[in-house]
Amino acid sequence: MATATATATRAIALLLISVAAVVSNAIDDGGGNFSMEEATIDQIQAAFAGNQLTSKDLVSFYLDRIAELNPSLRSVLEVNPDALDQAAKADLERSENQGRLGGLHGIPILLKDGIGTKDKLNTTCGSYALLGSEVARDAGVVDRLRNAGAVILGKASMSEWYRFRSFRMPNGWCARGGLPQNPYVKGADPCGSSSGPAISVAANMVAVAIGTETHSSILCPSDHNSVVGFKPTVGLTSRAGVVPVSPRWDTIGPICRTVSDAVYVLDAIVGVDPRDYQATKEASEFIPSGGYKQFLRVDGLRGKRLGIVRTPFMDSVDDSTVLTTFNSHLEVFRQGGATVVDNLEIANVDSILQPFETGEIKVMMAEFKVAVNQYLQELVKSPVRSLADVIAFNVNNSALEHMKEYGQDMFIEAEKTNGMGQKEMEAVQLMEDLSRRGFEELMRRNELDAMVTFGSYVTAVLAIGGYPGISVPAGYDSNGKPFGVVFGGLKGTEPKLIEVAYAFEQATAMRRPPAVSFSFDDLDEKLYLSAT
Ligand SMILES: *[C@@H]1O[C@H](CO)[C@@H](O)[C@H](O)[C@H]1NC(C)=O
Ligand SMILES: *[C@@H]1O[C@H](CO)[C@@H](O)[C@H](O)[C@H]1NC(C)=O
Ligand SMILES: *[C@@H]1O[C@H](CO)[C@@H](O)[C@H](O)[C@H]1NC(C)=O
Repeated sequence: MATATATATRAIALLLISVAAVVSNAIDDGGGNFSMEEATIDQIQAAFAGNQLTSKDLVSFYLDRIAELNPSLRSVLEVNPDALDQAAKADLERSENQGRLGGLHGIPILLKDGIGTKDKLNTTCGSYALLGSEVARDAGVVDRLRNAGAVILGKASMSEWYRFRSFRMPNGWCARGGLPQNPYVKGADPCGSSSGPAISVAANMVAVAIGTETHSSILCPSDHNSVVGFKPTVGLTSRAGVVPVSPRWDTIGPICRTVSDAVYVLDAIVGVDPRDYQATKEASEFIPSGGYKQFLRVDGLRGKRLGIVRTPFMDSVDDSTVLTTFNSHLEVFRQGGATVVDNLEIANVDSILQPFETGEIKVMMAEFKVAVNQYLQELVKSPVRSLADVIAFNVNNSALEHMKEYGQDMFIEAEKTNGMGQKEMEAVQLMEDLSRRGFEELMRRNELDAMVTFGSYVTAVLAIGGYPGISVPAGYDSNGKPFGVVFGGLKGTEPKLIEVAYAFEQATAMRRPPAVSFSFDDLDEKLYLSAT
């Protein structure tokens, strides 16, 4: 760390940031008050329609906010040099349509860095190996966002290569962005791999963001940073043009501050994509006519059956604030008219939670090599064309990529694989069997609409079956560290999950913006030490 970066980091570290008080954020234009901080898509659209706010104002606000906070939080890798122009264009379109362009029109969106854009932004998965690469076209979800009129604000940081290079890397770390910070509590794990989207949204550096998940990458950082993370059923959203891990399990979804914002984004990005045809075609049967907004119902808990699974997810929770808060949420479910079935268990959950034992990692490695090689070969230009090249790049650029600290054990193991062989297929069958006898049986036997779990430890259960989940802010521990609850369901049950998650959020309103003032002095060194 004896580098220019370390010196800069120390200089920045001396800054005291007060996240809540950084930028003046209220626009008062003739009686209607609009606050940029915590603004939802609905509020932004109302302010647009009422001529209180332009998309350009909003983009400027977020760019200032990023300039101010990012040196400490490090959740954004690049801002889009064309964002203000795109916003100006959206403002013009709105004036020509007499304000009648709702939805995502004019809304700035931050993309995780593994999501390809054909513009001035780089798409690098946080790695220098992909810096200077050029994608052939926008990712499928980006195409849809642009068509909906969204403004691409920039690329958010992430765990490099989804932390699939080496498990020795701390959550959220990437060579290009360094170690991002949880905005709530100094030194707290921000989780990953969609760390940048979650932190940026939490700290009001953008309204909404897009993340990706294979195993826990949307739900976990959302849980840790007090935002809403929506992991859709695999195939509901296109993965085309996104740096892959494992096409069997990869999914793309929103990370926002509210359930309704996440649902607006979901509505815009779901659907069949010829470039990810089989999966998106299959899952498209789940898309309800009229979209997902209709399920944003404050009475969404009424008549629902919710299964609470505590073990093993809460086994090590001993913070009484957390336990009290979690238990009070069960009362909220009941008061909302839901039937709560408490203390359920998922058969073989201990096996399911061991990704090396189930073969989850084995399958990921085999699929990663094939899928990432294909992604790299399809690039218009790139310094690396295969996983083998990436491995060589890391060796050649050892200091830049912190190879001494983190290595690339997983990459080296993945490079040894040869696609889906017999062992991998057996692992897939084992996991299908575990899902059938575990999660699916739990849902069916108890006639549940959703499973409710504390935190994000549950993610393996949802990962190996391609099931959807929504993480909603559910409180803060006695140190102020956020936690969420995950509502998980069977494939295609997003409508029910939205009803339950939205009604829960409306009844509890647990999210608050990070307001803690703290210094980042020497934080880096400490975390790097503990990580090696
Ligand atoms: C705006 O704020 C003022 C002062 O706090 C308040 O009196 C007024 O009702 C607010 N207007 C709206 C539309 O919320
Ligand atoms: C993309 O990376 C190149 C090479 O480092 C850099 O010059 C350029 O500014 C980056 N693009 C953006 C939008 O930051
Ligand atoms: C790594 O370095 C070797 C030796 O200089 C060179 O031949 C190779 O092209 C480099 N590979 C990458 C991907 O940087």
